[in-house]
Amino acid sequence: MTPPPRAAHGTPDAAPSDASAAAPVRPSAVTVDSAVLAEARRLAPEAVALRRALHGGPELGLDLPGTQRLILDALDGLGLEIRTGRALSSVTATLAGAADGPTILLRADMDALPVAEDTGLPFASRTPGLMHACGHDAHMAMLVGAARLLAGRRAALAGRVVFMFQPGEEGEHGARHMIEEGVLEASGVRAGAAFALHVHPNMPAGALRLRPGPQMAASDRFRVLVRGRGGHASAPQTTCDPVPVACEIVLALQTAVTRGVAADDSAVLSVTRLTAGTASGVIPDSAELAGTLRTLAEPTRQRLHAAIARVARGVAAAHAATAEVTVTPGYPVTVNDAEFTDLVLRAGTSVLGAEAVDVLPAPLMTAEDFSYVIRAVPGALAFLGVCPPDVEPHEAPSLHSSRMVLDEDALAAGIACEAAVALAFLAGRGPEPVR
Ligand code: NI
Repeated sequence: MTPPPRAAHGTPDAAPSDASAAAPVRPSAVTVDSAVLAEARRLAPEAVALRRALHGGPELGLDLPGTQRLILDALDGLGLEIRTGRALSSVTATLAGAADGPTILLRADMDALPVAEDTGLPFASRTPGLMHACGHDAHMAMLVGAARLLAGRRAALAGRVVFMFQPGEEGEHGARHMIEEGVLEASGVRAGAAFALHVHPNMPAGALRLRPGPQMAASDRFRVLVRGRGGHASAPQTTCDPVPVACEIVLALQTAVTRGVAADDSAVLSVTRLTAGTASGVIPDSAELAGTLRTLAEPTRQRLHAAIARVARGVAAAHAATAEVTVTPGYPVTVNDAEFTDLVLRAGTSVLGAEAVDVLPAPLMTAEDFSYVIRAVPGALAFLGVCPPDVEPHEAPSLHSSRMVLDEDALAAGIACEAAVALAFLAGRGPEPVR
């Protein structure tokens, strides 16, 4: 196993900051499996058409009947064993190879966002206020392409591939629901590995980026209700004013992060809402603040949960007020398995070429519920660059933007990469170079 390189804390494209950083895990030179890429390119027009159909009809949350229908239609005739979800409109499709072997799971998320599209695309969302602004339309189209490619190679496959189409990634814990409904055992044996791609418009089109260890953050919400005692604003001494208490809590929470988290660990705490009062002459009874916590290590996460409660209650108590603290856990840290990450880097290099594949130098503080899957089985999530042509990656509208667009030419790279990872894993090549 290769130890994870130290994070260079900077932009995703930043180079490791100094020579003391461990050498990045660069795949050794391998020959390009041009057949996989050529097949993916042949499937690309179909993938683009499916992506556009999905893009036009975005749906939210765990119940996506129109999206599910499009996926079922697209998988029809491939000879896959199909199951749909009970508590959510998921699709689980299993491809059985001609010979026995392990199972690998490939995942695409299906849901859109409550964003009013502003791209001007001819195939833009037909549903007012909803948009595939996180690229999940592309994820589904690529996974269908990979299913088609791998189904065409069934005779040469030893093992099974589970294609996991998952609703409810945007805050609804869809992956956890699918695990509860048995997606990890869908093939009859537990998946030995899992892989997912997430498009990224701020990375060059066709680039594959991932890192061993933490790749994305845990994301939790918190809320603090400060209770004091209101009264006339001219006589604060007769009240217990919750407003300055809430302000002190905001500052003290920042100190809890900077003094409580090691320099080579990462945590972000943002208070994003602060509300109190109704009139300039009235000291209110209470004040409320809320925000998000992002962390990259479970112990740090737990420590900061405790710190939020302790700091809020302690500051409030110092001023004879009280604080009610609620921390709502979101998705866990997305941790890529080091050995499987190496396989992805090698398989990706074999189809896309070394110049397209890189170790992501630092984790992103966004979150992903694929974390539930690769917490249960070894696996990895990788970013696929989809920066549109004629735009600098750092200037492209980001994921979740109403103007997010992607380079559809990169879909072939994604299909090739997903297929290559599955082929490499099923061939039992493990961490060995893919030749
Ligand atoms: Ni997403």
